[in-house]
Amino acid sequence: MTITDLAPALGLAGENAPWWRQAAVYQIYPRSFADANADGLGDIAGITSRADYLGALGIDAVWLSPFYPSELADGGYDVADYRDVDPKLGTLADFDDLVAALHARGIKVVVDIVPNHSSDQHEWFREAIDAGRGSAARDRYIFREGTGPDGATPPTDWVSAFGGPAWERVADGQWYLHSFAIEQPDLNWAHPEVRADFVRTLRFWSDRGVDGFRIDVAHMLTKDLSEPLPSQAQLDAMPQDGLHPLLDRDDVHEVYAEWRQVFDSYDPPRTAVAEAWVDKARVPLYASQQGLGQAFNFDLLEADFEAEQFRVVVTDNLALAAESGSSSTWVLSNHDVVRHATRYGLPHPGRAPGGRPSVKHGLEWVLTGGVEPQLDRETGERRARAATLFMLGLPGSSYLYQGEELGLHEVADLHADDRQDPTFFRSAGADFGRDGCRVPLPWTPDGATFGFGADGAHLPQPAWFADYAASTQEGTEDSTLSLYRRALGLRHALQTGEQLEWIDTDSADVLRYRRPNGWEVVTNFGQAPVDLDAVTAGGMAREIALSSEPIEGATLPGETTVWFAPQR
Ligand code: NOJ
Repeated sequence: MTITDLAPALGLAGENAPWWRQAAVYQIYPRSFADANADGLGDIAGITSRADYLGALGIDAVWLSPFYPSELADGGYDVADYRDVDPKLGTLADFDDLVAALHARGIKVVVDIVPNHSSDQHEWFREAIDAGRGSAARDRYIFREGTGPDGATPPTDWVSAFGGPAWERVADGQWYLHSFAIEQPDLNWAHPEVRADFVRTLRFWSDRGVDGFRIDVAHMLTKDLSEPLPSQAQLDAMPQDGLHPLLDRDDVHEVYAEWRQVFDSYDPPRTAVAEAWVDKARVPLYASQQGLGQAFNFDLLEADFEAEQFRVVVTDNLALAAESGSSSTWVLSNHDVVRHATRYGLPHPGRAPGGRPSVKHGLEWVLTGGVEPQLDRETGERRARAATLFMLGLPGSSYLYQGEELGLHEVADLHADDRQDPTFFRSAGADFGRDGCRVPLPWTPDGATFGFGADGAHLPQPAWFADYAASTQEGTEDSTLSLYRRALGLRHALQTGEQLEWIDTDSADVLRYRRPNGWEVVTNFGQAPVDLDAVTAGGMAREIALSSEPIEGATLPGETTVWFAPQR
């Protein structure tokens, strides 16, 4: 099947295509990347100190998860000041140095914008608490009176995304809405000052040379809170058709249309990618070129390592991206989910219809007796390498998460005392949360923190991290890091044009696709080796540019991806 390439018609393909359409974007979780000042928390100067590593990796852009002042109630997604650097992580001057160091290596910089909620330490929220009920300051957030005697019952029974009630009571008896942690009060997007302030923030970072923005929960900003407020059960039963009171409302796109004016007032235009957990059919609204321009799809990340699931995900999402004139995005790991090397090394738990077991933190491992007895590390890493090469060959942008280039696994057995994620605490430990993918990176095989910093690490690293150290992998030809470097280096030649053509392989386990410039990618998702000549109909005469495992003769091993360079 051929996916129609809309990009040329829109003047967006070829040499002049905007950089973001087919970029490899590397996500950095700043507190866990590199710690220059040895306080146990990664920092901005730490990232700068690794600029050569990032340059050698061959990525096109770095996306920085929040580095703003924060009490870290939700790993920095509780922002106390949108236009500053957390003093624990450095200064604005450090940030400028980082941008300069990355730009000097041809790497763009994307920062995270968290508009649905601020931190409860934000000056607006402190002001709202002090100013009392009915004040203009409270109107920047969502305050309501409670119900029942003395208003001691929350305004509604709404549940926060991290578990527990979505309302918190303040000293004078009013309640405020927090869709996530208690420390993350939702902002009131009906308030003109809120809107104006985010425009100021976008300009602030754009003026500092930032190239693009990742928009946190982009589908939740605007809300219809007219009385009577519905119950949680009523909310759950309502269609998400643009008129739902809380989610994916049509009017959120008025916000993004305004932001688009801001992005386009820069040369080159600033970019944005939406994190929007919405019905597929509505994703193009976010990816629209009049809106944010691109949207994440998390379908690959939710798929099992299985040929048909991957094929459907790719076909559907390319079609969807074409609808909005955008390019597709692909993600296998990020700071919210179990690392893909680990997901693929666990037994498939069996999918409930519509269920999302892989992404739901691999919770099954706890229910069935702990991760280690069930985790096949080597299989997980092997499949992860194959899936990554499959992804990096696809048209569109690939978003990579720090540490996946090392084949790093989830740290599944963090002690309860060490955990930080509010999901763990608000679910009384039932949900392990996301700390396991946020443990600081191992740079060297030894040292107190494996080269992360001079002293302790804010989340403890297990002894086995030594086996994944970047410094060891750098000099090793067959390491996962070397594979990522080769793939990202070759990727620029591969990513011309935005088409993909599936080629039949006569095997249910093997996917094969061709790019317009003749590059081909073949993945064997099965465990049994297959005859390459057979699945490529003689394609073996061509040059193998790269493979996720060593190839001998005409045999494609199980769980392996091969890149074929174009015929000369
Ligand atoms: C999505 C982010 O990826 C996640 O880490 C965060 O907890 C929530 N949004 C709330 O900001």
